[in-house]
Amino acid sequence: MASYTIPHAPGFVANDAPRIVTERFDHPDSYTLERYLATGGYEGLRAALGRTPEEVHGEVRSATLLGRGGAGFPAGVKWGFCPPGVWPRYLVVNGDESEPGTYKDRLLMELDPHQLIEGCLIACYAVGLSQCFLYIRGEMAVAQERVAQALNEAYEAGWVGRNICGTDFSVDIVLHWGAGAYVVGEETALIESLEGNRGMPRLKPPYFPAAIGLYGQPTIVNNVETLANLPWILRHGAEAFTAIGTPTSPGTRMVAVSGHVQRPGVYEITNGTTTFRDLIYGDDYCGGMHRGRELKAFVPGGGSAPWFTPAQLDLPFEASEVGPQGSMLGSGAVMVMDDTTDIPAAALTLTKFYAHESCGKCVPCREGATWLERVLRRVCDGTGTPRDLDVLFEVGASICPGDFPHAAVPERGLEPKPFPYQMTTICFVGPSAFAPVHSAMTLFPEEFEARVAPNAHLDTGPSDGPASGTGPSDGPASNSISEVAIRV
Ligand SMILES: Cc1cc2nc3c(=O)[nH]c(=O)nc-3n(C[C@H](O)[C@H](O)[C@H](O)COP(=O)(O)O)c2cc1C
Ligand code: SF4
Repeated sequence: MASYTIPHAPGFVANDAPRIVTERFDHPDSYTLERYLATGGYEGLRAALGRTPEEVHGEVRSATLLGRGGAGFPAGVKWGFCPPGVWPRYLVVNGDESEPGTYKDRLLMELDPHQLIEGCLIACYAVGLSQCFLYIRGEMAVAQERVAQALNEAYEAGWVGRNICGTDFSVDIVLHWGAGAYVVGEETALIESLEGNRGMPRLKPPYFPAAIGLYGQPTIVNNVETLANLPWILRHGAEAFTAIGTPTSPGTRMVAVSGHVQRPGVYEITNGTTTFRDLIYGDDYCGGMHRGRELKAFVPGGGSAPWFTPAQLDLPFEASEVGPQGSMLGSGAVMVMDDTTDIPAAALTLTKFYAHESCGKCVPCREGATWLERVLRRVCDGTGTPRDLDVLFEVGASICPGDFPHAAVPERGLEPKPFPYQMTTICFVGPSAFAPVHSAMTLFPEEFEARVAPNAHLDTGPSDGPASGTGPSDGPASNSISEVAIRV
């Protein structure tokens, strides 16, 4: 059996572009204070403390640092939404990373926790946030340990706590471990969870966290990777940051790749210019398809994103280009499926996840996601009927009325339907349950029609050929999308 042991590739940027957030990943002691200080650590904070909070905020606004948690909202703009004169204000760090396929924040916390802590301190200084709550996903034991250890070191060395660096700037950082619910990654559910309540999203409006957040106070919620960019920006300046990438997507971003590629892993890519083809086939990145197979489809932005096919390979990591083509960049996860992939089964794996994670607060998601899973399961089992295919779309329309985004299908003359979609639910979990079903049925309808054909249930699946349904036929069936979806 061919060896297949690469848990994650190193962070990497081709063409000698700088590595912004993964520059210490190659050091075995990258997570220690000693290594951090030896490699420019806490210099960004020192630079910030030498300027006014307004100047630091202005620098981050000029950098157009887009949030890396999914929505891509500029951090500097979000920080400006705190109502003036309302105190105290809090920073909540979203380290709950659970989107299928996404595992970049975990690496940032495991391999460079001081960078995150420094980013938190810079954000607190710029916005006048008096306390920081760092929420880490429950299952991330190593990340929890590393961040806790780094925080102890930082407190002891005077980087966190009272009168930091001899100034009157003081901040406490509180660690909080999640209990393993995906929906708690949604910022208002995360705030509920921090307050000790059941993690369910709040209604927006009125609960936009910047205005009414943790304990009813103005609260900035930022993703781990977003904050990890701040030390570099303060050290090198917004101009150096915007010189990388494109004007609308400056800097770099981390992308976690999983599935049927030679080298799955987390890569730091240049924002806005690196294409999906570069990432999947480039020697500097994933090095092409696993076992020389053909690419069938890929999910460009985490499990919630509508799927792409080889026709979209030349799109760059640029929201303004990916959106009109029917998908989104989301949480920075690309899941690659080769020509052996059983498409209905891959969709079921993802839909099952979202149905399981539905918090139950709104009916279209609670009932709809469950129905999608049940109906899709019988289609996959070969016990469904042609009517079930309509039912899947009907249930989906009750969650997302109107046209749902999808990629172009040139061979069928299908134009792309741009992102975003309408939704009847409070948060995006409901639509996320429908996204894989809709993509799979729109891009590969023949695989569903074959499954509901008369006597399909008697067909145990061909033993050779691409549509076998259980993974590669010429090797261990170990790298199926089922695994891909749960390897997060
Ligand atoms: C269901 C759901 C799950 C989410 N999970 C995460 C997550 O794990 N990590 C994250 O940073 N943002 C997640 N988000 C987005 C957050 O609500 C929020 O937009 C983000 O943390 C803001 O940080 P940013 O502006 O720095 O990107 C999720 C959103 C939804 C709807
Ligand atoms: S969409 Fe689903 S997860 Fe989100 S609030 Fe409604 S029931 Fe809960």
